[in-house]
Amino acid sequence: PRRPMIAPSLLSADFARLADELARIADADWAHVDVMDAHFVPNLTLGEPVVKAIQAVSPVPLDCHLMIEDPERWAPAYAELGARNVTVHAEACTGDPRALAKDLRAAGALAGLAIKPGTPLEGYTEVLRDFDTLLVMSVEPGFGGQSFMPEVLDKVREARRLVDTGHLTLLVEIDGGINADTVEAAAEAGVDMFVAGSAVYGADDPSAAIASLRAQAAR
Ligand code: DX5
Ligand code: ZN
Repeated sequence: PRRPMIAPSLLSADFARLADELARIADADWAHVDVMDAHFVPNLTLGEPVVKAIQAVSPVPLDCHLMIEDPERWAPAYAELGARNVTVHAEACTGDPRALAKDLRAAGALAGLAIKPGTPLEGYTEVLRDFDTLLVMSVEPGFGGQSFMPEVLDKVREARRLVDTGHLTLLVEIDGGINADTVEAAAEAGVDMFVAGSAVYGADDPSAAIASLRAQAAR
């Protein structure tokens, strides 16, 4: 059985106290950082200078989710500053995503490809051979606290099948609306890595919320 990984999303943390908020999730696997540019998504969060500052104090590796246009231009910097995983959106890539994956890996990071809820997996199965993680969005990207879209689980099952049959070597990540009510369905569909923003930072005890999600996902 797979050991489920939990990546709390800082989007639901207090941006004025990021170092403290990172310390509260020290027993998570990765810290998920949502970079938004107000063009690819209708929201603006933070960018390279803030991620660099976070990287210096984070007790856990960073999982950077870039919801930005022109990832070819901006993404390698996040790998160079030390992020463990750098995920770009398939819909935002203008060139061959495989070239970008190569750049990210050369800079020392894992390379991630994200797909929005309406983006089919077909068409990316060959490309994904050069990636380390696949992030399946289970809400429309842009905001925390939205409701989980169960229809994306078919894509998770398909990705799981491709990994388990040896066609791909990937961590399957899900992002959006993961909480006590939805994590088990996602786990059953084959998710390895669970991003959770409001479910972790909205809890009185983020550490307990992480443990609880992990236990539910492991069943
Ligand atoms: C949404 C972000 C998510 C978000 C998840 O665009 O990519 O990472 O923070 O938040 P919750 O878990 O509250 O849906
Ligand atoms: Zn995210």
